[in-house]
Amino acid sequence: MNQYLATAIAAARAAGGRQRQSYEQTHLIEFKGEINLVTEVDKACEELIVSAIRTAYPDHDIIAEEEDYARRGSSSVWIIDPLDGTTNYAHGFPWFCVSIALEQEGEVVLGVIYQPFTDELFTATKGGGAWLNGRPIRVSQRSPLRSCLLATGFPYDRTPDNENNFAHFYNFQFTARAIRRAGSAALDLACVAAGRLDGYWECKLNPWDVAAGSLIVREAGGRVSGYGGETYDIRNHRIVASNGLIHDEILAVLAQKEGGR
Ligand code: IPD
Ligand code: CA
Ligand code: CA
Repeated sequence: MNQYLATAIAAARAAGGRQRQSYEQTHLIEFKGEINLVTEVDKACEELIVSAIRTAYPDHDIIAEEEDYARRGSSSVWIIDPLDGTTNYAHGFPWFCVSIALEQEGEVVLGVIYQPFTDELFTATKGGGAWLNGRPIRVSQRSPLRSCLLATGFPYDRTPDNENNFAHFYNFQFTARAIRRAGSAALDLACVAAGRLDGYWECKLNPWDVAAGSLIVREAGGRVSGYGGETYDIRNHRIVASNGLIHDEILAVLAQKEGGR
């Protein structure tokens, strides 16, 4: 596992360096949807990470955001978001990161999130605890929900159905102390793990947004589940992560009907 971790950390740092280097430049923006952007830096970072992993572990499989990679049938799968927070990056808002996870036999066993702007490296291996720049981290001890700081995000398709998250956001405005929408799911999870946020929920996410972060939260002593409290699976598009103490309160708010008041 240490060797896998070293590979992931080196790749994350290299990609983060690339992001820092090009941060103040004008980016080549393409659109994957009406408001879903991709820049040349997302693609360059993915190439860099994929090539590092392919070189070290040529038989492993890779799932990453910007390209489809032919599957090799390996039980080891690297799950990569080369740049989480692309909208922030493209606008020069300094809140973005690299997220790399390793799944073995269907279970995430390693997670690395690197935030180049603050030079913060969040890591976890299954059963090995969660770490920030080499120091152990724990989730917060804060409760109840009305004293807590939460984070969330909104999907790119903005369709006016129950999955647009507006109603839940509205409901939490009346039940939590405050809510942040900073624009990087991976960093939201890292912040829950480090006790900077007490809880987080979001829908319509992909495995690369949450694979590393969900392990880091768990290893920091937090709880991660689906909206109904079910065991979390990174292919479940809805996630709740918290310090554990306020988890049931979050689930209860998510169970309220749309615009529940
Ligand atoms: C997005 C960010 C954002 C979340 C979106 C994600 P991207 O990832 O994590 O916070 O709200 O749903 O897709 O596109 O910047 O890699
Ligand atoms: Ca993402
Ligand atoms: Ca991305």
